[in-house]
Amino acid sequence: MRLSETCANPFSRLNEWLKAAEEKGIVDHNAMALATTGKDNSPNVRMVLLRGLNEECLLFYTNYQSTKARELNENAQASVLFFWRELGRQIRIFGSVERTSRSQSEAYFASRPRGSQISAIASEQSQPLSSRADLEKKVEQLEREFEGKEIECPQDWGGFKLKPERFEFWENGDYRLHHRLLYTPSGDGSWQHCLLQP
Ligand SMILES: Cc1cc2nc3c(=O)[nH]c(=O)nc-3n(C[C@H](O)[C@H](O)[C@H](O)COP(=O)(O)O)c2cc1C
Repeated sequence: MRLSETCANPFSRLNEWLKAAEEKGIVDHNAMALATTGKDNSPNVRMVLLRGLNEECLLFYTNYQSTKARELNENAQASVLFFWRELGRQIRIFGSVERTSRSQSEAYFASRPRGSQISAIASEQSQPLSSRADLEKKVEQLEREFEGKEIECPQDWGGFKLKPERFEFWENGDYRLHHRLLYTPSGDGSWQHCLLQP
């Protein structure tokens, strides 16, 4: 769906663009840059994978002791960005986050490949690591310890739901005369949109 086509619901457009990226065969088509700021107000950005989308929120999963999680605890406002060069498209989304329920995190954790579950329990994400060899040894130990056993979702691992308050869709135009469309809440539960200059 091109930006010239009308679409009242930004979630439908986001979903459609994600599908187009997937169908194009783009590797990690669901990768998004996640920007946060902690209490020092210093911006921080990194990639995460979008793991769920409905008519209210975008979902991603991480370690709750990580830098991003600490910053989101300090300031729940965040921004995410998708970019697909092959489609000449970008989407910026701004909103606020909250943690998913424990049961939702557990259900998602249970669906992950075993290797990823082991990595999640082995890694104290964003903490200093004395050597790579230490981490690999820890992974081997955990593989032995949990052989034939179920791995429970760690207490400090789970999801965040980003509830958008603003979407901006961007599509490449000739001679940098790009197309931009901004969606904001209209106040009655629906969304209003307007064009922005490129
Ligand atoms: C394509 C891509 C996808 C990633 N997906 C995730 C993810 O879903 N969750 C996650 O915690 N880290 C993910 N990472 C790693 C993060 O970018 C980051 O290195 C890590 O989460 C630590 O960030 P922090 O110290 O700001 O918390 C991904 C990295 C890349 C390049």
